[in-house]
Amino acid sequence: MLLAALGLGGFWLLSAPVPLTAANLPAHQGDPVKGEVLYHAAGCHSCHLPGPDAAGIDSILPAGGAPLKTPVGTLYPPNLTPDPETGLGTWTDLEFVNAMQRGIGKSGHNLIPAFPYTSYAHMTREDVLDIRAYLATLPAVKNPAKMHAMALEPIVRRGIGLWKRVGLDTTITQNDPAQSEAWNRGRYIVNGPGHCNECHTPRTAIMTSDFSRYLAGGPHPEGEGKVPSLVGLIERGRYKDANDIKLALQNGELMGYDKLSSGGMGKVQSNIALLPDADVGAIAEYLASLK
Ligand code: HEC
Ligand code: HEC
Repeated sequence: MLLAALGLGGFWLLSAPVPLTAANLPAHQGDPVKGEVLYHAAGCHSCHLPGPDAAGIDSILPAGGAPLKTPVGTLYPPNLTPDPETGLGTWTDLEFVNAMQRGIGKSGHNLIPAFPYTSYAHMTREDVLDIRAYLATLPAVKNPAKMHAMALEPIVRRGIGLWKRVGLDTTITQNDPAQSEAWNRGRYIVNGPGHCNECHTPRTAIMTSDFSRYLAGGPHPEGEGKVPSLVGLIERGRYKDANDIKLALQNGELMGYDKLSSGGMGKVQSNIALLPDADVGAIAEYLASLK
């Protein structure tokens, strides 16, 4: 009994979330124009769109409520519009950055990594604040968060705190001076906002990304089929060259490319298609270099 209590206490301590403090925030005025590009690269809308029952809410806005099936249950990503009661209206920059890069919610609880903060943690704080600045320009929509349909939610959240100690790498992606500017931009988008790893890198037995098999493909998190490898796309004859990868990402299956629609990739592709031409070219240049 005592041992069990000690064990539980130890678990509690170990799993306490480690938040960033105000000192970790740069003096940076968020840029909503850059933020909009990053918002699309990050696919925020794909998960935070309004649900089918949100009558009268513009489906373009990330007002939350559409169901997201995950291994821990069906989640309802919340409202990201600036509504003070049901959205991010009263959130501070620090709270926003802690959610995006440490997986910590406004009241200090651990967020479920179906929200890919494990990738967003690799972004610069400036870029995260730019997304925040863009979100602040959206019209405020009142749409209360729906309860997630998951078992043992408080225990799962505590467990995630423990998991984060191994599963959350918070290293900000740095440029490699030996590579081109486009390659570096591409790698940054792929590893950070684009969160391509979350689906294209296989996972270990404890559900952390197995970076020894970086982007080598894996099981889909929603369990629908396999996610293809992004390594050797040209060598394996999937695409002719980097420009072909770029055209595929911009045009998707409509233009005769295949393997770009199922398992969430359709949404990813349509978000990438909204990026500036140079950014899609950068992603393609980086992917083409993975051999
Ligand atoms: C793959 C789906 C997915 C994507 C992409 C995604 N989110 Fe989320 N997000 C979620 C889920 C699920 C939750 C709820 C997590 C929880 O309850 O622990 C969430 C929670 C959040 C929260 C915490 C809100 C609250 O009220 O606690 C913020 C802030 C947030 N997301 C912002 C963003 C932003 C900004 C982006 C884009 C940069 C984004 N999300 C992209 C799924 C996603
Ligand atoms: C939500 C999971 C998910 C995310 C995130 C994701 N992908 Fe995919 N991706 C898939 C799946 C699943 C497929 C296969 C789709 C099909 O067969 O219809 C795929 C296919 C692809 C293909 C085609 C591969 C081939 O063999 O032709 C490319 C290229 C690709 N993804 C690039 C990316 C890039 C770049 C990112 C990040 C910006 C990304 N994906 C993020 C799930 C994902």
